[in-house]
Amino acid sequence: MYDYAKLLHLIAGIVWMGGMTFMLFALRPAAMASMEAQPRAVLMGQVWQRFYVWVLVSVVVLFGTGTHLYTSTFRAARLATGNGSVPLGWNVMLVLGVTMMLVFGHIFFSGFKKYKRAIAAEQWPLAAKAGGLMHKMTLLNFALGWLAIISVRLLR
Ligand code: HEM
Repeated sequence: MYDYAKLLHLIAGIVWMGGMTFMLFALRPAAMASMEAQPRAVLMGQVWQRFYVWVLVSVVVLFGTGTHLYTSTFRAARLATGNGSVPLGWNVMLVLGVTMMLVFGHIFFSGFKKYKRAIAAEQWPLAAKAGGLMHKMTLLNFALGWLAIISVRLLR
């Protein structure tokens, strides 16, 4: 069970982190370099609409499997030694992982909602403003994701 949960956890992490890598470092710069503001705003809206479904699924899987990995090990350690303890990196992953999920919630439920409303009203400067904020929050999540992964591997 533990191994399957860890495999699912890894797959969901790869989907989210890989999607952010592609969006931040390939799709967005290419769209900025080669498209007018208006069609670019429509394209990014369509891209996010699809990508965020994958992120939502990844968030559910990461949270479910992550808490299972954490709590099952914590309980086993408590049974074996009387006090449950897990590596420091696991606690860092828990905190950073939950922070990433909250940041994504903000991107999805606030930023993207504003973005879609601006596109529907053909308010292009407003769409650009909302999109810029979503971009910054995605950069933050990308950095937090790598910090969490480095911590879970290196901090004992
Ligand atoms: C509620 C949030 C999270 C919790 C509680 C959690 C918990 C854990 C735990 C306990 C492990 C260690 C498993 C082990 O070594 O046997 C782990 C590993 C891992 N987690 Fe998370 N995690 C969370 C969120 C995330 C997020 C958001 C990402 C990336 C986007 C992520 C990516 C990974 C990766 C890649 C590993 C594997 C590292 C390795 O190979 O040892 N996790 N996680």
